[in-house]
Amino acid sequence: GDAANGAKIFSANCAACHAGGNNVIMANKTLKKDALDQYAMNSIDAITTQVKNGKNAMPAFGGRLSDDQIADVATYVLEQAEKGW
Ligand code: HEM
Repeated sequence: GDAANGAKIFSANCAACHAGGNNVIMANKTLKKDALDQYAMNSIDAITTQVKNGKNAMPAFGGRLSDDQIADVATYVLEQAEKGW
């Protein structure tokens, strides 16, 4: 995935709830490395599945973002987690 494009997708679709890699709805489920590791979300596959289908209070993006866009935003999230946001 293209992380630079993923950054734009993140700003437009994810930052309302996940600015700075945080989570305004469920505070423990951040996008930071420790939480992604703890909840088995530390892979492109796991993030792609959740973004496509949603989970609990997180909406599904499968109808709104293409597979390529979802791969790009997943790449960006993992890259930011490695960098510590
Ligand atoms: C969880 C990514 C948009 C609310 C997560 C997780 C990821 C993620 C990777 C798992 C975090 C973890 O388990 O530690 C994204 C991306 C988005 C997006 C890439 C944009 C495409 C949103 C939006 C909202 C939201 C807009 C709020 C309306 C949540 C909630 C959870 C969550 C509530 C916890 C779900 C649960 O386990 O019950 N998100 N998210 N997300 N996100 Fe998002």
